[in-house]
Amino acid sequence: MEVGDMDRWRQKKNGFLALGLVLLVVAVTGAHAWKKDEFKRCDQTIFCREYRNLDIGSSKWYVSDVNLTNGKVRARLVNEDDGEAEHGGSLILHLSAYQDGIVRVKVKEADQKKKRFEVPDVIVKELEEKRLWIQRLIEKDGASMVVLSGHEVVLLHKPFQLYVRNGKETLLSLNAKGLFHFERQREKREGENWDDTFRSHTDTRPHGPQSIGFDVSFYGADFVYGLPERATGLTLKPTKGAEIVSEPYRLFNSDIFEYIYESPFGLYGAVPVMQSHGEKRTTGFFWLNAAEMVVDVLAKEKAEEGAAEEVSRVDTHWMAESGAFDAFFFIGPGPKDVIRQYTSVTGKSIMPQFFATAYHQCRWNYKDEADVFQVDAGFDEYDMPYDVLWLDIEHTDGKKYFTWDPVLFPNPKEMQDKIAAKGRKMVTIIDPHIKRDNNYYIHKEAQSKGYYIKNKHGADFDGWCWPGSSSYLDMLNPEVRSWWADKFSYSSYQGSTPNLYIWNDMNEPSVFNGPEATMERDNIHYGGVEHRDVHNAYGYYFHMASVEGLMKRGENNDRPFVLSRSFFAGTQKVGAIWTGDNNADWDHLRVSVPMLLTLGLTGITFAGADVGGFFGNPDAELLTRWYQLGAYYPFYRGHAHLDTKRREPWLFGEPYTSLIRESLHTRYALLPYFYTLFREANVNGLPLMRPLWMEYPSDKHSFAIDDEFLLGKDILVHGVYSEKAVSEEVYFPGSQPWFDVRTGASYSGGQTVQVPVTLDSIPVYQRAGSIIPRKDRFRRSSFQMENDPYTLVIALNGTYEARGELYIDDGKSFDFEKGAYIHRLFTFADGRLTSTNLAPGNKGTKEFTTSCLVERIILLGLKSKDLSSHRVLVESSGTQVSAEIGPSLLRKGYHQTNSLVVRMPKVRISDDWSIKVL
Ligand code: NOJ
Repeated sequence: MEVGDMDRWRQKKNGFLALGLVLLVVAVTGAHAWKKDEFKRCDQTIFCREYRNLDIGSSKWYVSDVNLTNGKVRARLVNEDDGEAEHGGSLILHLSAYQDGIVRVKVKEADQKKKRFEVPDVIVKELEEKRLWIQRLIEKDGASMVVLSGHEVVLLHKPFQLYVRNGKETLLSLNAKGLFHFERQREKREGENWDDTFRSHTDTRPHGPQSIGFDVSFYGADFVYGLPERATGLTLKPTKGAEIVSEPYRLFNSDIFEYIYESPFGLYGAVPVMQSHGEKRTTGFFWLNAAEMVVDVLAKEKAEEGAAEEVSRVDTHWMAESGAFDAFFFIGPGPKDVIRQYTSVTGKSIMPQFFATAYHQCRWNYKDEADVFQVDAGFDEYDMPYDVLWLDIEHTDGKKYFTWDPVLFPNPKEMQDKIAAKGRKMVTIIDPHIKRDNNYYIHKEAQSKGYYIKNKHGADFDGWCWPGSSSYLDMLNPEVRSWWADKFSYSSYQGSTPNLYIWNDMNEPSVFNGPEATMERDNIHYGGVEHRDVHNAYGYYFHMASVEGLMKRGENNDRPFVLSRSFFAGTQKVGAIWTGDNNADWDHLRVSVPMLLTLGLTGITFAGADVGGFFGNPDAELLTRWYQLGAYYPFYRGHAHLDTKRREPWLFGEPYTSLIRESLHTRYALLPYFYTLFREANVNGLPLMRPLWMEYPSDKHSFAIDDEFLLGKDILVHGVYSEKAVSEEVYFPGSQPWFDVRTGASYSGGQTVQVPVTLDSIPVYQRAGSIIPRKDRFRRSSFQMENDPYTLVIALNGTYEARGELYIDDGKSFDFEKGAYIHRLFTFADGRLTSTNLAPGNKGTKEFTTSCLVERIILLGLKSKDLSSHRVLVESSGTQVSAEIGPSLLRKGYHQTNSLVVRMPKVRISDDWSIKVL
């Protein structure tokens, strides 16, 4: 180990020592900054250094012949310099098109020495059914053109360039800047050394150089977004050109210890997808490749004086160490179209169980069973709802996953049953490093079956992680995944019950003594695939295998819940993720918003940041602000490092305990709205957390805003990111007003307002023209809310109209896929609230019913003439009920002078009805 590795090891090893031992631990917080030197910079990375030095226009590739085969365009690419060169050989390009504005381009060597790795299990099977059969190729002026519905693809022959166009409007291009380079695999030349040494590690690169680089331009674009994961703002700022030279955006899954704010270095997960946005057009690009990748956003060149003003465009340069060229272009035209297009390639978001959308309580570590019961009881005592209690690595017997520490957790089943009696669940951590202990059944079996990743010499790879010497399962192999999945059965995972769910951590994979804290790139996976090719997708396969495990064990057709730290394109169809080890500081609270927004733009919407910050000790104010903001994260979990002070939400005294309780209550009240949005993500791929421009695409002012966001389209949230704040600058998008969810005060759309804030709340607003379903009775857990009645909050727009939806199912099984759900549409018009069915007639063979009632209807946005107490007629039943002027909203003590409350209309949420209110 090197000094840096040792340091890291020492810092991490706190986790090795079972609690109960007397420790002399140096507080981690703040004492150690991110060890930048442990990670490669671009100039230390061969392909990155070389590509970054290339001149614009240096590509030498041209198209030699084009034809149409099997409904796809096939073209040969030849390199001008080749002649009879020793490593010559042409490339073959395949161009195909899919319904709904998707163009795919694949390029390979005509003769592949070693098959390039094409990442399996990311593209959904159904995509093939959407392939369009290209019928005709038009040849004209040195170009070939394919006409599709609503767009064309033009392949320029010399130089090779590809344009996706819509009539005269260019949308996207490949190699327009001449940066397409493709290192064809070749024999080693005499005396040539392919070794690449970084610190004490040597990568033998047995297959030599094989990188790919190219430029993609986005036309009509003001900004580009995407490429998670990093702790930066929402827009991807230029990294190269003009006077700017920073590190490029790096996609290389890494366990970065104490990551810092505003660094382009990649964190735990990678999604090589980018979305561009301008006033009139949104487009997208996705490169399916799991090798180390870097991307430059090129600074705009200054237009020459007198030159005609060019259409706004963003140029980007993509480079990967190895792997295949398999790229998708998405034509939009709007932000939601691009997400729908991308997720029709990589999959829609899973539908979580209802409990998983509620609040989760985690800590490294809840010490023992008594501690678990005490925390559980604390929530009840302080009248705080929560749904899931998490156990970190110390619950195991010596970091052997699927086991329990016999002293600290002697009765795991009874423990889970006791927690489950209140409708609550538990989660245990299961990491991918397997302790090399001959008495550990997982290790013994995995070793004897040859299921571990191999090192370059063909032996089981042995690296260091929490248990010490560990091997790593080869999750690329479907057989290993299936074997692993069996380990979750109740008979195999002793002490597990149907109320136990799973957390996958360290799956980048994290290897404490490996290069860049991961494993060697020349390690070997299933099928002879090098780790370098699969690296960014390793965590995804591990996550997938654990999910398969919960599916297999499934009693009652139970939907799985597995949280993962590492992720890749397609993770959304597997499970949830969180943003890893953040810090308990204001910057990290602030950056959680663009981090989660970016994930949502790349399909991964079920995500959250550790509430409170993982490292360090938040003071009461920061913790409160985090609970207030986290209540609107799609995944809401409090978590803390082993060395931090205890911070269960009632430990800070008043007013903080009450304020945190109120945040939890807010989340629980909004669960019906959250769940409806999760269903939308499941059907259309749309994220829950949305940048403002997703709903207001032509509002230029909103394009770079990332300190506020929309939850769905109807709730606007602005965090408070500084100490003792007295006001926040809030931008209200659109032309309709927004209503403060606590006070009912309204703000016109299309303006920025310095809104006063107190510690009591963060600025949150409901859009005029919306109807939000809530459940306002506070229970211990979401399970206990199942039969509770609904409140409908109607925020009227200028024409006294509003609209909202509600999706309900059993909250746990897959029966919803067979039609067992309710989808209601609520509309308010002509003074009447109407509930109608939104589900299709042929939704399936199963039914779901509920007898939940509507207990309250709140109307906001009324004028004083409407505000007299009066009778309301439930037309469907012919009964009259009373209506009164506020108080109405969540927080007691707030009286909305412009609101009307209808109580107990006694209609069922699942029925058709109408209520004449005004
Ligand atoms: C690293 C994870 O990011 C963190 O959440 C966890 O508590 C520790 N590993 C220990 O398992």
